[in-house]
Amino acid sequence: MNSTPINKSNTLVLGGKGKTGSRVVARLQQLGWPVFVGSRSGDRIFDWEDRSTWSAAIQDMHTLYVSYFPDLAVPGAVDAIRTLTDLAIANGVQKLVLLSGRGEAEAQECEKIVMASPLDYTIVRASWFFQNFSEGYLLEPIVAGHVALPAGDIPEPFVDAEDIAAVAVAAITEAGHSRRLYEVSGPRLLTFKEAIEIIGRQTGRTIVYEQVPMEAYKAMLKAYDLSPDFIWLISYLFTEVLDGRNASLANGVQEALGRPATDFTDYVKRTAGSGVWDPITA
Ligand SMILES: NC(=O)c1ccc[n+]([C@@H]2O[C@H](COP(=O)([O-])OP(=O)(O)OC[C@H]3O[C@@H](n4cnc5c(N)ncnc54)[C@H](OP(=O)(O)O)[C@@H]3O)[C@@H](O)[C@H]2O)c1
Repeated sequence: MNSTPINKSNTLVLGGKGKTGSRVVARLQQLGWPVFVGSRSGDRIFDWEDRSTWSAAIQDMHTLYVSYFPDLAVPGAVDAIRTLTDLAIANGVQKLVLLSGRGEAEAQECEKIVMASPLDYTIVRASWFFQNFSEGYLLEPIVAGHVALPAGDIPEPFVDAEDIAAVAVAAITEAGHSRRLYEVSGPRLLTFKEAIEIIGRQTGRTIVYEQVPMEAYKAMLKAYDLSPDFIWLISYLFTEVLDGRNASLANGVQEALGRPATDFTDYVKRTAGSGVWDPITA
C-alpha cells in the first residue's frame, strides 16, 4: 500500500447524498478537496434516467465516484455504466472509483467494463451495508418494533458505509490504489435476526424478528404500495444474493487502509445515540 497523497483535483460523487456518497463527500471536504455532488438534487444535476444530464455533470472532473441507483443488478445498469465510462473517457476524466456489489453477476459485468477501459480505476466491491438498518428500508420496521424478512440462517458479513467511504477516499486521494479491486466486508458474519437482536440490546428495545416466506413478503411490500421495480430488486437480493454465496469475510478494508473493518456492534452503539431507532411517540 502506497499512501502518498496525490494532487487535489475536481471530484464528482454520483449518489453524493446517499449512504456511501454522502460520506465520501464529507471526507473529501474535510481534506480540502474540490468535491461536487452529482444527483437529481446535487451541485451538478445528474439523473441516471436522463442521459442528457450526464455530459454537463462530468465537465471539468478529474475523478468520478460512481454509486449507481438503485442497484447495479437492475436491468439497464450495465448499459448505463458502459455509456458513462465512454463519456468519461471522451470528456477527459482520468479516474473512476466504482462502488460494486458482492455476488451480483450484473455488478461484476459493470466492473469488467471499467477495468477494460483506459481510465485509472479502483473498484470497491461491497457486501450489504450496515446503514440499510438505519438509513434504508429496514429503518421503518425497526422503529415499529417488528421486522419481517424472507431471511433465515444464512449469514451476511454486513459492512460499514463509513469503511466503504474511507476506502473510496483513499483511492481518490492517495497513490497506490490504481487498478485495484477491493472486496470489502465487515469483520464477522451475522444473520438478519442476530443483527436485529444487537440493535434491540443496544437500544434497550424489544424488536421482534420474524422470518416470512418470500411470497408472503412480496405481498406485504405490495400492500405497502411499493413499486414493482423495488419489489423485484428486494426479492432478487434476498433470493439470489443472500443464498450463501457471500457468507464469507473479505479483506478489502485491511488491504486498502491497513486497519480492520468496523464491527456491527460499534456501528450500532454509534448510531443508537442519534435516536434514529427510537420508537415514535404520539
Ligand atoms: N445498500 C447496500 O447494502 C449495497 C451493497 C452493495 C452495493 N450497493 C450499491 O450501492 C449503490 C447505491 O445503494 P443504496 O441503495 O445504498 O443507495 P443510496 O446511496 O442511499 O442512494 C441514494 C442516492 O442516489 C441518488 N439518486 C436516486 N435516484 C437517482 C437518479 N435517478 N439519478 C441520479 N441519482 C439518483 C440520490 O440523490 P437524489 O435524490 O438527489 O437524486 C442519493 O444521492 C447501488 O449501486 C448498489 O448496487 C448497495
